[in-house]
Amino acid sequence: HTLDVLRTNVAKLRGASDGRERARIGLVPTMGALHEGHLTLVRRALEECDAVAASIFVNPTQFGPNEDLDAYPRQLAEDAAMLEAEGCALLWAPSAEEMYPEGFVTNISVTGVSEGLCGGSRPGHFDGVATVVNKLFNQVQPDMAFFGEKDFQQLAVIRAMARDLDLAFPHVHSIIGVPTVRESDGLAMSSRNRYLSDANRAAAANLPRAMQAAIAQIEAGAQIANALSELEKALMDAGFDKPDYTVLADAASLEPLERLSGKPARLLVAARIGGTRLIDNMAVSC
Ligand code: PAJ
Repeated sequence: HTLDVLRTNVAKLRGASDGRERARIGLVPTMGALHEGHLTLVRRALEECDAVAASIFVNPTQFGPNEDLDAYPRQLAEDAAMLEAEGCALLWAPSAEEMYPEGFVTNISVTGVSEGLCGGSRPGHFDGVATVVNKLFNQVQPDMAFFGEKDFQQLAVIRAMARDLDLAFPHVHSIIGVPTVRESDGLAMSSRNRYLSDANRAAAANLPRAMQAAIAQIEAGAQIANALSELEKALMDAGFDKPDYTVLADAASLEPLERLSGKPARLLVAARIGGTRLIDNMAVSC
């Protein structure tokens, strides 16, 4: 395999795709600093499609003013080597000027599913995500796109956008959600885990552990409010700040649930440890 690395412009990207006109193209959008979670998306895309394009773009519009845009890890050459080894055909890594030329004035804002959870603690974040993902879809024109359940609300926002805007590339079914890939101690893989000190990295494994304990309680019939406040306490005892949220939500609407309703439910948590914000989510059986 050789990987085409395109950092120039959309016209060249189109040229690179021309020869693959009859191939089914899968897109894996990322912000780089790739790990096994990202590579699992690439492998899934290779199973479903003839050729895989990955994108790497650290999207400034989805970072808040006090967030880690400048510190976000950038390692394009290493990432390209990993993608090439996986058999990825194309890496689209546009510059910020290509993505947001002067005079850029458009914003895509998904309401409803984007409003609570991370949308509550990161105002504007999902507008940035929806707008850039829409642009990536239009630039690469894939047949399918692959996203991690790690960012469960992001996946819901993108599905809602694709449905509501009748995105021309096939339909909601062409947006594939891939289960979260975890480290051996259960911590969900994330490009941000590298910010953690050794001590905080060890303590961070309490996040999935405490979530599993809360799920066991909820599935055994405990009061949801009690299980969630115990979860919050377990996280703070483990060295996390008071969590941004610990929510049991309907897995489709992301509306908070006070009791199990017989429909699929999801436990979602965001909490900081040593200044690093971690998120995780898991299914709850009803
Ligand atoms: P990024 O955080 O780089 O993640 C890229 C994709 O990898 C997302 O779909 C994310 O859910 C998935 N992913 C990350 N960690 C994962 C894990 N442990 N297991 C499975 N999948 C995982 O999410 C973004 O970038 C951006 O918001 C983006 C969609 C690229 C728009 O800018």
